[in-house]
Amino acid sequence: MDKIVVLDFGGQYAHLIANRIRRLGVYSEIKDGDVSASELSEYKGLILSGGPASVSAPDSVKCDLGIFDLGIPVLGICYGHQLIGDVLGGKVEKGKVREYGSAVVKVTDKKGIFEGVGDEERVWMSHFDQVVDEPKGFKVVASSEDCPIAGMADYDRNIFSVQFHPEVTHTPCGMTILENFVALTGAKREWSIDSYIQDVTAEIKEKVGAKKVFLLVSGGVDSTVAFLLLDKALGQENVYGLFVDMGFMRMNEGKQVEESLKKVGVSNLHVYDAGEEYFSALEGVYAPEEKRKIIGDLFVDIQEKVSNELNLNPEEWILAQGTIYPDTIETGGTKHADVIKTHHNRVEKMQKLIDEGKVLEPLSQLYKDEVRLVGERLGLAEEMVWRHPFPGPGLAVRCLCAKSEDYPENIAELEEKINAIVSEKGLKSKILPVRSVGVQGDKRTYAHPVCIYGDVNSWDGLNELSTQLTNQFPEVNRVLLGLQPDDFSELSIQNSYLTRDRISLLQQADKVVMDFIGEVGIDRDIWQFPTVLIPLGVGDEGESVVLRPVCSEEAMTANFYQMEFEKLRELVKRLSSLRGISGIFYDVTNKPPGTIEWE
Ligand code: XMP
Repeated sequence: MDKIVVLDFGGQYAHLIANRIRRLGVYSEIKDGDVSASELSEYKGLILSGGPASVSAPDSVKCDLGIFDLGIPVLGICYGHQLIGDVLGGKVEKGKVREYGSAVVKVTDKKGIFEGVGDEERVWMSHFDQVVDEPKGFKVVASSEDCPIAGMADYDRNIFSVQFHPEVTHTPCGMTILENFVALTGAKREWSIDSYIQDVTAEIKEKVGAKKVFLLVSGGVDSTVAFLLLDKALGQENVYGLFVDMGFMRMNEGKQVEESLKKVGVSNLHVYDAGEEYFSALEGVYAPEEKRKIIGDLFVDIQEKVSNELNLNPEEWILAQGTIYPDTIETGGTKHADVIKTHHNRVEKMQKLIDEGKVLEPLSQLYKDEVRLVGERLGLAEEMVWRHPFPGPGLAVRCLCAKSEDYPENIAELEEKINAIVSEKGLKSKILPVRSVGVQGDKRTYAHPVCIYGDVNSWDGLNELSTQLTNQFPEVNRVLLGLQPDDFSELSIQNSYLTRDRISLLQQADKVVMDFIGEVGIDRDIWQFPTVLIPLGVGDEGESVVLRPVCSEEAMTANFYQMEFEKLRELVKRLSSLRGISGIFYDVTNKPPGTIEWE
């Protein structure tokens, strides 16, 4: 089968590029950015990914220069674009402004990868450095206001590069660009999800051999699809599914997991109630990464405990989980990637088992959209396939913990600058004394949300304002619209960690939200709808709720969902009737710069 290789420099979207190429029907693999050119002779084309480093940093990863002599088409993206600029004799410098999010590029030469695209295209940027002089033999073929060399081409050698990200859905012409590149490589389009199922089934059989499989189940789409795949490949008698109920599921969801798996014919599922163990392990824990580590480690401990209780001999059993690709990449699971957040299935203890070859992960190369396709092919019911994704650590990562007020150092000056911008739109603003995780330029951030409030009745201009604030002020990585009450100037914060009471309040708020979107028929328009509890009292005592509905395709990028205001007002009314909720916010941050989950 013809193949295209993606060289991974640690970009958050490196694997997404491979996903897109596969979508175009060509098999695509990932290799480390510094792989030797001699290992790449079997590929029809080569793509250099983005990455968190700066090409001018002494320890940044460089490619083997021999890759440009292989005689195959090359496409550089973001860091890949800068690398081509740098190593082929051009010049790369820090940009004047950081560009995270949407931008418009003018395409000045509609040939090669730009054939068939418009004169002006909306694209997705996430960078600071940029190419300021193109290398000899290259022509500048696209530019944006802040990035004059947003695209360049050496038509003689078939080398192309772009500063923006054609692989994300937020670059609408992206698939045309990638399709043009695939056509230039001449690779035959022979890959499909069916061929993937066939291959992975054969791989499962080979890896498991005469052993049996102990599968960790979370009840979401991924582990359910993994369960079905394993059952089909090996037979139910050879698979033991363990669902560890940590106590952080949605209201009544633990029971529903069992029922929905039974419905698809899975009868080999066992449930372990770990609520007590989890709440006591997380007592007095505040930092998101510490929480995540405890959650993941305890998961491995419980799995060990259960397998010991069951007397499962490691010589006869192999562990499996339904990890999908974003879990790996966001945990810094590839050589050059930054840790954005540690997913429960990628904590150190689990990673050690994976490195020892003791864990089977049949979906680890796939994105959610591909997993859903596999689920459909295996006969999973539509409502299960299209369920909103739910993180492994569940509501634990949606229940923000905080020890005390936590403001940026230069708060007064910062608030003044931000206020000057938002007051032009007739709004007010306030930086909140808590922090959440974000991702900017392929790096993790842990910064403050700014709340904007006032008389807002439409989303017009909010998207731009949100992008402007997070681009301009590094102390801020999220923008919230304050919905209730009317005034956010008086805030109080309580020392809060994960307790049953807080999870129970969050479960109630989450249920109000999920029931509401089902009732008004917008659940399918929204890709995922986290409801987040933050220990912030607005005016009186109490906690606040943040609504975080997003549109996405594969979770690597996302836009905040723009709910009709009439509906939103009704939802706010319902939420405010819950006891203990004093503030309601709506997250108007895209990804990047904000991750979907807050922790
Ligand atoms: P972020 O918050 O990084 O999330 O934008 C991207 C997607 O991953 C989900 N998520 C997780 N899924 N284990 C999971 O199985 C985890 O630890 C985890 N953390 C985040 C998140 O819900 C979103 O769909």
